[in-house]
Amino acid sequence: MSRQLRADHAVTKALAALQSLLAATGWPTVKELICNVEEALAAMANILITGANGFLGSRLAATMPVGSTVRLNGRDEMVERLVLVDHLVTDKAAGPDGAEWVEGDLGTLIAAQPGLFLSADAVFHLASATSGECEAELDLGINANLLAGVALGRCLASAAHRPLLVFSSTIAIYGGTPEAPLPPVVDDTTHPTPQNSYGSQKLMLEAFFADLSRRGLITARSLRLMTVSVRPGRPNGAASSFLSGMIREPLQGENTNVPVGPELQVVLNSPDGAVAGLRHAGAASDDVWGGPRGVNLPGISVTVGEMAAALAAVGGADVAARLSWERDETIERIVTSWPAEVASERAAGIGFAADKPFIEAVRDFAATVDGR
Ligand SMILES: NC(=O)c1ccc[n+]([C@@H]2O[C@H](COP(=O)([O-])OP(=O)(O)OC[C@H]3O[C@@H](n4cnc5c(N)ncnc54)[C@H](O)[C@@H]3O)[C@@H](O)[C@H]2O)c1
Repeated sequence: MSRQLRADHAVTKALAALQSLLAATGWPTVKELICNVEEALAAMANILITGANGFLGSRLAATMPVGSTVRLNGRDEMVERLVLVDHLVTDKAAGPDGAEWVEGDLGTLIAAQPGLFLSADAVFHLASATSGECEAELDLGINANLLAGVALGRCLASAAHRPLLVFSSTIAIYGGTPEAPLPPVVDDTTHPTPQNSYGSQKLMLEAFFADLSRRGLITARSLRLMTVSVRPGRPNGAASSFLSGMIREPLQGENTNVPVGPELQVVLNSPDGAVAGLRHAGAASDDVWGGPRGVNLPGISVTVGEMAAALAAVGGADVAARLSWERDETIERIVTSWPAEVASERAAGIGFAADKPFIEAVRDFAATVDGR
């Protein structure tokens, strides 16, 4: 959106406010006039998304083009500027109307161009190395996830306007051990004891952002996503990659292996549910959100066998026959330590909607496959 258009929008809103003030009270004072202009300007938001070239970041960005209305911390705001950050930008012409791409490593960009982040009213922080990458390379996860996140938090905390930070955390902050297994249902009171580096790094950031929020420096919203399925594209380094691959590859005509048994129960979010959840985390007002603790996004509990059955129901028996079932101990060890069922009264109280049944996520993906 051009500067002229933004100025027009602010003037239009200020005039509307002036008209209602005149109707209600007669001639306003100069102070009241200034307040109305300030209010109109304050209702415009600069939004920044990290990891915006990724699976969820690109979908989230698509919902907030410049000029659209986004609810942030209980207020409707017009998106004045949308900055999309990622260390890999595949197509700078892609993305929603008016978006500005910034390519580079998050930590490096924060050090080199702090103003880019300081001018944001709301930051959706999605940039992250995957769980598999973090497990394979400790330093990678520490740098890309933990230290970049700390740098982002410190930068935003130095802004005077208390920016809103929505952080995409993960269900992998929970993990069971033989001595302390997870309860059958993880709820708002379950103690997080992550069993992999990715989950540990996310939990450390949750605690850090919550502390900045408690100190009144930022408004933090950590939202723990379940494993999101069906993810398009190719397998990635995530230990949970097969939870999309076992639907995606067969529907695209390829054989694929399921590295766990059909009895394993997992908790999933659909792509639509995850994006709606991130938006809602930003939309909820401070009063509704309550303390700065993270929230578990409501998910769908299914067994891997039920997922295969959903594949067969949507694609047919021939498609489901493209699955093989050879266990992989490393993957199994990671994913069996994650929660099998999650309940969150707190999420319901904040107004997060229930996700769609898994078969609908399978249908959504099938509809995107050529020739179907
Ligand atoms: N997809 C899931 O199943 C899932 C589940 C739970 C939580 N999450 C979280 O949601 C967020 C988004 O997930 P996704 O599936 O879209 O991931 P993704 O891998 O598709 O996207 C992440 C993006 O971040 C970018 N990135 C990584 N490190 C960066 C850095 N240092 N600087 C700049 N850019 C960097 C990558 O290039 C990538 O485009 C992540 O934080 C992830 O941990 C995802």
